[in-house]
Amino acid sequence: QSFRIAVLKGDGIGPEIVDATLRVLGKVEELFNVKFEYKEGLIGGIAIDETGTPLPDETLELCRDSDAVLLGAVGGPKWDNLPTDKRPERGLLKIRKELDLYANLRPAKVWEPLIDASPLKPEVVRGTDMLVVRELTGDVYYGEPRGIFEEGGKRVGVNTMRYTEDEIRRVVIKSFEIARKRRKKLTSVDKSNVLEVSGLWKQVVEEVSKDYPDVELEHLYVDNCAMQLVRRPSSFDVIVTGNIFGDILSDEAGVVVGSLGMLPSASVGDKHALYEPVHGSAPDIAGKGVANPIATILSAAMMLKYSFGMDKASDLVEKAVEETLNQGYRTPDIYSQGYNRVGTQEITDKIIEN
Ligand code: NAI
Ligand code: MG
Repeated sequence: QSFRIAVLKGDGIGPEIVDATLRVLGKVEELFNVKFEYKEGLIGGIAIDETGTPLPDETLELCRDSDAVLLGAVGGPKWDNLPTDKRPERGLLKIRKELDLYANLRPAKVWEPLIDASPLKPEVVRGTDMLVVRELTGDVYYGEPRGIFEEGGKRVGVNTMRYTEDEIRRVVIKSFEIARKRRKKLTSVDKSNVLEVSGLWKQVVEEVSKDYPDVELEHLYVDNCAMQLVRRPSSFDVIVTGNIFGDILSDEAGVVVGSLGMLPSASVGDKHALYEPVHGSAPDIAGKGVANPIATILSAAMMLKYSFGMDKASDLVEKAVEETLNQGYRTPDIYSQGYNRVGTQEITDKIIEN
């Protein structure tokens, strides 16, 4: 069996962490009798430098023509003075829209050996293993009308919160499917006590839930959910919500578990999927060989599971990461006294060994 992977390394530490991840995937090929065919494409600042645009058409074609996309990170001080519509980060927004990647999956898991990285007490966070599914292509970020208008001589800022039932249904179905493969619990987050859009959201969730009697469903208002995430994080399994609530809650879930260099993500649609770490291009440490590759390696583990159906390989990669942490290896970003401080290459070697 073989899979085609579009590899977009991007800027800053992007090339370092993606190269490390490809080495781990090489081990997966060996162990699972599978072949990965990589094709590289330009995105971000490097694409601006070489082609004048952050997402060249060839890159988009390459992604459309692949079974999955693996991305490093984009951006850096070199391009910070460009207008927002010309910056490296535009390439990301465009690729998500063009590939119709409507569900953003952000797992937040507490790794027992790193439990002290959480700002919360160990007894509160212990065992936390949740996944926030954020709708990514609709909501108040895209609804029309939008703009700053004049009304009776005063300015008024306008955005429109808007979801069609089909947009809600597809991300909710995806979330139930994922919950079914995990601990079979889904929390739907809305603000239906105040917002019409949320009223529709809740109706659609109830309708879809009839097809998933095996999955336990809970509804929470977004303000309450923000509290429960810090009070009882370990009680959550899958959380599904709209674009703006998901933006905020997924960052909150990330900080609950601690370290930025450990957080993977997937953005998936019906035809395509893109896997990338949550963190950025870390220009402050780029080229020094100290970047933590784990977020990208765990993103690749998600790719194995969600795009290739290789659940066993995915679990094995996760276990290898956990074992490496248990053995005491730490990149500088997650280092604390008494542990074994290593660079990108060395921690990757250990993960491969494990
Ligand atoms: P950042 O996530 O790149 O870095 C924040 C801090 O965390 C830095 O001190 C960095 O050294 C550290 N860090 C991040 N990832 C790390 C890793 N894997 N190993 C060790 N340390 C790590 O966020 P920042 O500094 O706000 O942004 C830097 C650039 O990245 C900007 O141009 C920004 O626009 C871009 N960015 C790109 C994203 C993407 O490609 N998806 C997401 C967020 C920011
Ligand atoms: Mg955000």
